[in-house]
Parts: sequence; structure tokens; C-alpha cells
Amino acid sequence: MDLKFIDREKEIWRLGNVLSDPPNYILVVYGPKSSGKSTLMMRIARAFQDNSFVYYDMRARHPKKIEDVLATERPGLVKRFRRMFRKKKFDDGIEIRRSEMKAIRKGEEDAFKPLLPVLRRMNKPALILDEIQALQFGELSKESISSVLNFLVTITKRLHLAHAIIVTSDCLFVHEVMHLAALEEAAEFMFIGDLPENAVKAWLENEGLGKEERNRIFEMVGGRPYDLWVVLQHWRNEKNLDILDQTVQRKAERIKFLLSMLPDKEKRRYLKDLKEMLYLGKLKGVRPDFLDWVIKNEIAFFDPVTGNIFPISTAMKNALESIFQ
Ligand SMILES: Nc1ncnc2c1ncn2[C@@H]1O[C@H](COP(=O)(O)OP(=O)(O)OP(=O)(O)O)[C@@H](O)[C@H]1O
Ligand SMILES: [Mg+2]
Repeated sequence: MDLKFIDREKEIWRLGNVLSDPPNYILVVYGPKSSGKSTLMMRIARAFQDNSFVYYDMRARHPKKIEDVLATERPGLVKRFRRMFRKKKFDDGIEIRRSEMKAIRKGEEDAFKPLLPVLRRMNKPALILDEIQALQFGELSKESISSVLNFLVTITKRLHLAHAIIVTSDCLFVHEVMHLAALEEAAEFMFIGDLPENAVKAWLENEGLGKEERNRIFEMVGGRPYDLWVVLQHWRNEKNLDILDQTVQRKAERIKFLLSMLPDKEKRRYLKDLKEMLYLGKLKGVRPDFLDWVIKNEIAFFDPVTGNIFPISTAMKNALESIFQ
């Protein structure tokens, strides 16, 4: 099955506008797991050839020191020569000289200053920092992470030198970022959710699924790209949609298990909150322990921009419904 890219017209249009304007703020791209953020960003980096992109996968990069977050040692001549013959691939770091890197490591040079002339030489540079929350899991201190964000403010809002897009599914990280004084009036937010119904159904029709099947799939897993791929793969191989019930059932079992681990009093309260979230479609103003529990267990997503809490996916919503039936 070839990897088709579906829709995202609105998002691509908006990102195109952002990239054609002078850099002026950090763009925070956020949304539930597997909603298609990384896929969209790769698409953008390939589509907008006018900009030079630097794409960081922070989880894979796993920087241990502040100088390794954004900079990479410039490769030798041979490697650079070879790269010229390869198809355009985006850089995976801002390339500085080995001597500069050495000076930073020795503490003789600022971790970010040598990056500025490199950015100035690039053509409309855009930094994409995917999985930005991974910075928290290494050995970097809170101060180091703040200074990275501050540098991004410098190159966007202050110097208008490069675009900076940070990408994450970690809503608590976004929540924290939103409340940093340094980012007040220096960051804008873009939510990436599920694919829209018409695009999903057109995709499924293209894959040869009948109307009844298309409706059933959308009802069960909505427009979550990951879930749709799994269903399609199953359909291709087994010619049935048993996977839909299995997916929802598996999620329901997981929720039941997680609830069973709670003391009785909390269990009752959490069930009540889950029910409220389910029937109101969203929830506001819940106790922090419940919020923490639903987020960490990937049951609900908290949108820090709107303050809404809602099931992380349609499949999860259906799993919750099956529990309350
Ligand atoms: N627009 C799309 N059309 C078709 N498939 C898509 C689309 N967007 C994402 N997918 C598929 O959905 C899956 C999840 O996408 P992706 O990894 O981009 O999500 P993500 O939001 O970055 O997830 P995470 O939060 O875990 O990093 C991938 O298998 C990807 O190929
Ligand atoms: Mg991703």
C-alpha cells in the first residue's frame, strides 16, 4: 500500500502564509498523538522549496548539552560534495565550524551566537523542532530549555531572521510554554487534529470501500490518520472490518484496567468526570489529578489554548461510551 497523503489543505495554506511572511513569532504546532503533525511538517519542508529547512527530530537527536540542541558540526569537504549530488534533503542542524563548536564546548563562546551568521547566509531559513518535549527527558536543565526558547524568540520576533516551528503532542509542555513570560506575545499556536470527514470518506472510496463501510469506519475511528491506516491495511489483507470492534474493545479494556488500579473513592470521581467529558464533548475546570491521569494515560487531550479536555480520538470516545453503556 503506497503512503498517500490526504488533505490538510487548510493547514498547508496557513503554513504557507506563515512561511512567506517575515518571521515574527514561534509557531507552536500541537495536537494529539498520531494526528499527522510530523507528516504535515515533512510535507511542508518538501513543498516550500523557497525556504531552507532545518528539521530536528529531538527524540532521535537527544541532545545532552545545550550546544547540541540546534548546532551541528559542519561536515568535511567530501561529505558536502556528496550531498550536492543527492536530492534536496533538509539539514538536520545549523552547521557551524568545528573550531566554533570546540570553543562553545570549552565555554569560550556563547552556545547560540555562532548560529546567527549561518542563518543570515541561508535562504529564508525555517527551523522545525519536532518532538520538542523530548528536551525535557535528557540531561538539559529547565534553564537550558528556556534559553533555547529564548533564542528562538531572538531569531523570530527580534531579528526576523528565521522561522521557528516547534511541534509536540505533549499538551502539558504546550501549557508550560504558553505561560512563560518570555513567550508572551512571541508565540502563536496551531492545532493539528483529525482529517475532515469528506477527505476521509473520499480516501476510503478510493480504496474501494462501499458507502456502508465508509460510514462505519468513520463512526468508529473518525479522521485519525494512524487508525485509518491500520483499518485499511487490515481491510486489504483480510477483507473484513473486524479490526474496528477490536480496536475499540482493546481501548475499553485498558481504561477498565487503569480504573481498577485506583482507590474506590477516586474511581467514582474519575468515572463521573469521564462521563461528563464524554457527554459534554469537552470539559473545563477539572481537578489537576484527574487531568494528569487522563493525559498521562492517553485517554484525553487537553487543549491549553481553549482549555477544553476531550477524548484523545474517536476510537477512545467509542471505548468510553462502551464502558458507560
Ligand atoms: N495527511 C495524511 N494523510 C495520510 N496519512 C497520514 C496523514 N498524516 C499522517 N498520516 C499517517 O498517520 C500516521 C501518524 O502520523 P504522524 O507520525 O505524522 O503523526 P504525529 O502527529 O507526528 O504523531 P506523534 O504525536 O506521535 O509524533 C503515519 O503513519 C502517517 O503516515
Ligand atoms: Mg510526530
